[in-house]
Amino acid sequence: LHAKPRQEINVVPRPASIRPMSGSFSLGPDTRIIASDETRPLAEMLNEHIAKTYGFKLQIESRQTQSKNVIVFSADANAEAESYLLRADKKIIRIEGRETGLFYGLQTLIQLLPADSKVKPEIPAVEIRDQPRFRYRGMHLDVGRHFFPVEFIKRYLDLMARYKMNHFHWHLTEDQGWRVEIKKYPRLTSIGSRRKETVKDQLLDPFTGDGIPYGGYYTQEQIKEIVAYARSRWITIVPEIEMPGHSLAALAAYPELSCAGGPFEVGTTWGVYKDVYCPKEETFKFLEDVLEEVIALFPGQFVHIGGDECLKDRWKACAHCQELIKREGLKDEHELQSYFIRRIEKFLNSKGRRLIGWDEILEGGLAPNATVMSWRGQRGGIEAARLRHDVIMTPTDYCYFDYGQGDARREPVHNGGYLPLDKVYSFNPAPAELSAEEQRYILGAQGNVWTEYMKTPEKVEYMVFPRLLALAEVVWSPQESRDYGDFLRRLPSQLARLEREQVSFRIPEPHGLQDVLTTDDRPVEVRLESFVPGSKIYYTLDGSLPDERSKVYEKPFKVSLPLDQKITLNTRVVASGGRASAVYSALLLRRNYREAVDYTGNLRGLMFKLVEGRFASTKDMDGAATVSSGKTDSFELSRFDRRSDYGIIFEGYLKVAGDGVYRFAVESDDGSVLLIDGEEVVANDGLHARQTREGYIPLRKGFHRFTLKFFQRGGDAGLKIWWGRRGERMETIAGNVLFH
Ligand code: ACM
Ligand code: ZN
Repeated sequence: LHAKPRQEINVVPRPASIRPMSGSFSLGPDTRIIASDETRPLAEMLNEHIAKTYGFKLQIESRQTQSKNVIVFSADANAEAESYLLRADKKIIRIEGRETGLFYGLQTLIQLLPADSKVKPEIPAVEIRDQPRFRYRGMHLDVGRHFFPVEFIKRYLDLMARYKMNHFHWHLTEDQGWRVEIKKYPRLTSIGSRRKETVKDQLLDPFTGDGIPYGGYYTQEQIKEIVAYARSRWITIVPEIEMPGHSLAALAAYPELSCAGGPFEVGTTWGVYKDVYCPKEETFKFLEDVLEEVIALFPGQFVHIGGDECLKDRWKACAHCQELIKREGLKDEHELQSYFIRRIEKFLNSKGRRLIGWDEILEGGLAPNATVMSWRGQRGGIEAARLRHDVIMTPTDYCYFDYGQGDARREPVHNGGYLPLDKVYSFNPAPAELSAEEQRYILGAQGNVWTEYMKTPEKVEYMVFPRLLALAEVVWSPQESRDYGDFLRRLPSQLARLEREQVSFRIPEPHGLQDVLTTDDRPVEVRLESFVPGSKIYYTLDGSLPDERSKVYEKPFKVSLPLDQKITLNTRVVASGGRASAVYSALLLRRNYREAVDYTGNLRGLMFKLVEGRFASTKDMDGAATVSSGKTDSFELSRFDRRSDYGIIFEGYLKVAGDGVYRFAVESDDGSVLLIDGEEVVANDGLHARQTREGYIPLRKGFHRFTLKFFQRGGDAGLKIWWGRRGERMETIAGNVLFH
């Protein structure tokens, strides 16, 4: 990958339109920048980058006096707000746009320069016309669970701006810490910003603390500094002040704002606490005072008020809350939550601000002007868009950067979940089930970074990069032009830059590292390539974990595979600066075909058996009571007379048209296993979330026994199965290949 010629356009996010031309522009100390007073800050930013990278500075002039070797920033008051035109030929580079557009044009220009500072700075001749797909392109950071210093916040903003992200959702208050100075309520920070200790590792049950006091907050002066810093990078900060839940730190400081009165301690463990704000007048007075100071600090239109995960236990037991429910004619505690949010919205609207809340604010009725941040999947967002409310998509499935990026046994400790780079890339924030009119309410999407298991800036960088790059393309680039393969082609030049700046991104698995399953007795070829220019791939084939004494991958090599003997190829990528990846593995196996079984039936479809129970694994389904059974020609779950907790066992015969290695993929929510001739091919057990897993098996032409076990616990069910010969397109498994 990195061996490709440097003249390629490696911009991320991919611009809307790229027209390559021939030749290139050579940048050198004699190059001039032409900028007006208005565009001079951009010229200076470019100069700063050039000085840092190449060690020289360019002269900035207000009038163009030479016809070549110039870079021109040209303000175009008629351009769309965020769009720009960048035209580079042998003589001139010209960037046109309005303020924000010019800034994005500059980011693109910087990315067109070679990532390697030792390479002669040439820019390929090109015409780029660019504008974003969505107007809200967000990154979030939770500074409640762990606190991050001002310098890191600035670096985060710099990195966001490089990838044309324009909203920073700053999660400033949590059960575990209040992080913003509020002059009127000094105890919020003197008490609420400190916890006596933090849970040790993942020892939540029983709780084991580390015994180390922890704290931190931003002064209003620091906030102003960060707001100005963000503004000069065209980033709007969305401050979040959580209510009514996730407010234990505030209650520790002001226990009278709770239902039961306290005393409380700032949270030391993760999760959801029962003590929340009590909706009494004194609480509203407090919150309005707090929001008043927050509004004065943050100029953006949006204020996020949380609204998620508010347990109702205390409200149910509180005389005031119950009396308020009666007085206001509310149905229940959900409507009381809605009452709470509506009052806060009225206040924010009266100050000219707009309220954002997590999708729980739909429960009990949406406040009239609220924007919904859809995190529990996209359903809340879809519902809100249909109600003509603005929506920001942040579903856990695609946008939770606290989820793991690879094999959980090898990755550094994290919140669970699995969200690899390609999954982020595959996200489309505009659900097809919405009409074009309804889709207009989808403002964009955002990556969320909950920091329970991110104690340091380095860990945040590890979790955020390179996934942020994939998300940037999701929200910026036209959907029809997106191509993961092309994204991967552009990735090395981005990683080279991040590496040079010592951003602790997760080093991706080497390209070409994949499980090999063959029936062929010829040796298999291993061909690897690192995505990180200048890195080395260390590997072993004996099951040991590679380190810097292991073999270094130099060129493709062959491995002989003895029959039925699993060989593990373990790799570790070490970047030129010395940073090492986790161990990434592939399984190499030669085995024989599964011979076909005798089957002479010709009835299409499968037998099914529905069993009842709340299962944690498909193994629990053995011996469960059968509710119904029969024949089916579909996996469509609505066909079955099912309750919320159940399992289904499907059995039949799969018709295989020719010898080959077959690939199966199962998407299920919750768990499933697929067995062919009794052999487990895909296991999706115990994940309790929608997941797709794959497996391979070599099959002879003819019939093979097909068994699929699936269970569901509450919520929305889902089950899909695809198959195909290895290397070919996969298709949904259908009745024409399944017999009973
Ligand atoms: C959330 O993840 N609780 C919004
Ligand atoms: Zn109460």
